[in-house]
Amino acid sequence: MTTVTAAEAAYVVAALLFILSLAGLSQHRTSRSGVVWGIAGMVIALAATVGLASRSITATGLVLIAVATAVGAGIGLWRARVVEMTGMPELIAIMHSLVGLAATFVGWNGYLDVDAGSDGGEKLSGSLLGIHHAEVFIGVFIGAVTFTGSVVAYLKLSARIKSNPLTLPGKHILNVGALVAFVVLTVAFVARPNIGLLIAVTVIALALGAHLVASIGGGDMPVVVSMLNSYSGWAAAASGFLLANNLLIVTGALVGSSGAYLSYIMCKAMNRSFISVIAGGFGTPAAAADDGEQGEHREINAEETAELLRDASSVIITPGYGMAVAQAQYPVAELARKLRERGVEVRFGIHPVAGRLPGHMNVLLAEANVPYDVVLEMDEINDDFAATSVVLVIGANDTVNPAATDNPASPIAGMPVLHVWEAANVVVFKRSMAAGYAGVQNPLFFRENTQMLFGDAKQRVEDILRGLDALDAPVPEMAGTSR
Ligand code: TAP
Repeated sequence: MTTVTAAEAAYVVAALLFILSLAGLSQHRTSRSGVVWGIAGMVIALAATVGLASRSITATGLVLIAVATAVGAGIGLWRARVVEMTGMPELIAIMHSLVGLAATFVGWNGYLDVDAGSDGGEKLSGSLLGIHHAEVFIGVFIGAVTFTGSVVAYLKLSARIKSNPLTLPGKHILNVGALVAFVVLTVAFVARPNIGLLIAVTVIALALGAHLVASIGGGDMPVVVSMLNSYSGWAAAASGFLLANNLLIVTGALVGSSGAYLSYIMCKAMNRSFISVIAGGFGTPAAAADDGEQGEHREINAEETAELLRDASSVIITPGYGMAVAQAQYPVAELARKLRERGVEVRFGIHPVAGRLPGHMNVLLAEANVPYDVVLEMDEINDDFAATSVVLVIGANDTVNPAATDNPASPIAGMPVLHVWEAANVVVFKRSMAAGYAGVQNPLFFRENTQMLFGDAKQRVEDILRGLDALDAPVPEMAGTSR
């Protein structure tokens, strides 16, 4: 068997492993094996690619590949070990930026190799040359949009810049203008390739990527992350065409289409128009945040919350980002267990974008061994709040904001939320009156049936556990008292 045939066979195996990996990752129970399939596929893909490359490069080239692999793997291992679960979206965003950058370089290299006649360039002619030029241009465009879009997403997600949408005058005209310029320049480049056009499309794409993501508000960032995931897949597929690498084409298409589908599902869950979000918030009115006077809020302490829970017949816990920050899932699971032992009906209501990544809350609750059957999705539980005695909102904010349903001027208007305010009592765990990720004030905190339990969520839940124990403890008889 020749090296090429062996490598092609290895690519087919790797592609199948990637498909198995995606299938595995789609369910909690199989997600670990999904990761293992993915790692196996990537090891095979890398080995086959290096094997293929080794036929035509020098020993120095091979040493460089080995050094690059070691440095890349070292950085990857280090980041994966130190990253907090809450920091995953920004890590993913910055990784997408690298895929975009790589695709841009591959595109430029494709041009320099063939057109500028640098060493090793393939000799193409006729329509093949035209297709090659189109591939170069499209690859550079998608790669550069992905690169700067992901860098801006990283800056927003890591709170290095504000998550508010940037609203430049005529922003949609700028976006459409950039797309039209891309089409015109592509035609011109295929007809008469030159480096000036390639520089122009690179600059336009870099600006467009940054502008598209900067224009999207905090609440829509989950969709942006999965959309950039999709873009990075298409950028990789474009590189695959340029490098005539089938595995890169297949893998890029898998990432591109699964990312696009995830974005679509998230848009549906958040009642957002897919087209509007990918077009940088097109059609979304520039809504004013309602930070005006909201009235008085009421406070409750842990002991009083324990009493409220002792007397409750049904409790729903709606966790959010704050539960992840506080790592409160273990005491929360313990609280749920204790209440259930006392005969209280306890369930969890999970918003599709609670936390900072899809399935964030489900992962945390599974980690703390909360049984799956009491963890319900928003649509499954939203009608039950009205008949619930107590709702514990643990570090959630945007996902329980009634303004989304009753204030059309709110930046999160129309986003489906958990109707926690319909319950008899709502206790909100957070450290201050600060707004949530979308930067919008929450009228829930000022409702009559809401009480704020301030402090770190983990500490407060532990205080409640102690409070429940104290309520259970037999009252010591006073000396000299008789019945
Ligand atoms: P958020 O709206 O982000 O609010 C979290 C709340 O937790 C904050 O108000 C914060 O208030 C509180 N908090 C932080 N640390 C805490 C601690 N140690 N103890 C107690 N409370 C703490 O949460 P959410 O309801 O989960 O909404 C998620 C938001 O993130 C949505 O806007 C969503 O669009 C966005 N987003 C989601 C994703 C995905 S895919 N899930 C990705 C990116 C962005 P204090 O500071 O006052 O404590």
